Amino acid sequence: MRCTVKHTEIIKQKNDCFIVGIFTDKQLSEAAQIIDAHTKGYIRRLFQSNDLTGEIGEALLLHDVANLPSKRLLIVGCGAQAEFNETAFRKVIHKAISVLKTTGAKEACCYLTDLKVKDRAVDWNIRQAVQVSYEATYEFNQFKSKPKTRVMSLGQLTWNVANKANLSAAQRALQEGLAIAEGVILAKDLGNMPANRCTPSFLAKQAQTLGKEYKTVAVDVLEESNMRQLGMGALLAVAQGSEEPAKLIIVHYRGKVKKGKSPVVLVGKGVTFDSGGISLKPSAGMDEMKYDMCGAASILGAIKVAAELALPIEVVGILPATENMPDGKAVKPGDIVTTMSGQTVEILNTDAEGRLILCDALTYAERFKPAAVIDVATLTGAVIVALGSVASGMMSNNEILAQAVQQAAQESWDRVWSLPLWDDYQELINGPFADMVNVGQGNEAKCIAAGCFLARFAEKYPWVHLDIAGTAWKSGKEKTASGRPVPLLVQFLINFCS
Ligand code: BES
Ligand code: MN
Ligand code: ZN
Repeated sequence: MRCTVKHTEIIKQKNDCFIVGIFTDKQLSEAAQIIDAHTKGYIRRLFQSNDLTGEIGEALLLHDVANLPSKRLLIVGCGAQAEFNETAFRKVIHKAISVLKTTGAKEACCYLTDLKVKDRAVDWNIRQAVQVSYEATYEFNQFKSKPKTRVMSLGQLTWNVANKANLSAAQRALQEGLAIAEGVILAKDLGNMPANRCTPSFLAKQAQTLGKEYKTVAVDVLEESNMRQLGMGALLAVAQGSEEPAKLIIVHYRGKVKKGKSPVVLVGKGVTFDSGGISLKPSAGMDEMKYDMCGAASILGAIKVAAELALPIEVVGILPATENMPDGKAVKPGDIVTTMSGQTVEILNTDAEGRLILCDALTYAERFKPAAVIDVATLTGAVIVALGSVASGMMSNNEILAQAVQQAAQESWDRVWSLPLWDDYQELINGPFADMVNVGQGNEAKCIAAGCFLARFAEKYPWVHLDIAGTAWKSGKEKTASGRPVPLLVQFLINFCS
């Protein structure tokens, strides 16, 4: 599917499908009004006969409407006009493209991007529309043995821009939207890949592929022997229960930057399968622990986008990748390890492995003298209890950086919500035998306790931690990785260098 932006008059062009919006209370969008006038009140009659209400989720596909230069007309309900916000816009686009892709239309011109979303300009609409349409047409069928019976006909999708003066902004938004959509697809594909395929070595190969694709990306893969030399006792403790060798993947993107400008470091949890280790997880739903590398995948996605857009910034991705497995050699509850920072940890629960691999990666990050470090991890079930699948949990040691991430989240609509990392919570992870324990007692503030643990390894730079356990994938019938927080990370990088 090719996406373009254009300024067109709806009646004056031939097409396979026009897509227009209507609201409740019989309100028509501008494009719908023009069509209505041109077809002698066709749309208003649909309202009168109660075939249309304008509710969100409604989509009416019509063929061969008299007087229209388009084979199809797709009318999409947008809810109440006064309440048309970001969430409504995204739902409406998703619905429209979901219906469109099941038709024989080879091309379509969509006028939903003309709708005014509260507090948003047209470039926001375009960017979101592109991303959501890729969302709605995403498929992962690499592992199906038979080809699909229905192949999408849609090859060309045009987003209309109501005002010609906005065309250049829309063009830029289109470019960004397409690049972000590709980054999201990379993150989703890696997330959805089963753990017998997506191993730490496979992730390393994927990074190396990025390095081959872009001259600006250099990749370095550290082996377990290198980790041992560096003293990464926590990362190695997690890796020791697995037959698959762990990898520490360094992905370095160097855009054109002013001399002396420090890089942004992105650290991503890359547990390619989390069985829990000796603190074994229950079997129900354990398959979803293949998604425990979505943090790492999102960083590969974001760096791909940065390279694609040639952002003037330096970004270092640090991806500790390992399995977490039970084994005769696996780390045991009560074992004490020394981290790269020199701090010691008593591993009370081998299922709290994410923080163990991240803490050594965070210490490793120091050598890049970063302006900011963001770690991204499917770290705790507790963040799902707190925030569900809408917002990622954010914790930080730096108010200015946290605000920058919060703003990027609002702009990209890949949202985060802040949780406190007050000193008071640090007590949760003090222990009797080592400098700290890797889990607090009982059920108190488990998401924050994990953040507190990481904070002890991130004292030398401004840092934000994103717990994406609730946002990185969807469960249920439509089970899939979401590609989040690629849009947020990219927006942060764009803002950082402009
Ligand atoms: N990968 C899990 C977190 C997770 C759980 C993500 C469920 C998505 C869905 C992580 O390694 C983990 O097991 N965390 C434990 C920590 C606990 C032992 C303190 C958890 O959240 O239960
Ligand atoms: Mn775990
Ligand atoms: Zn995990």
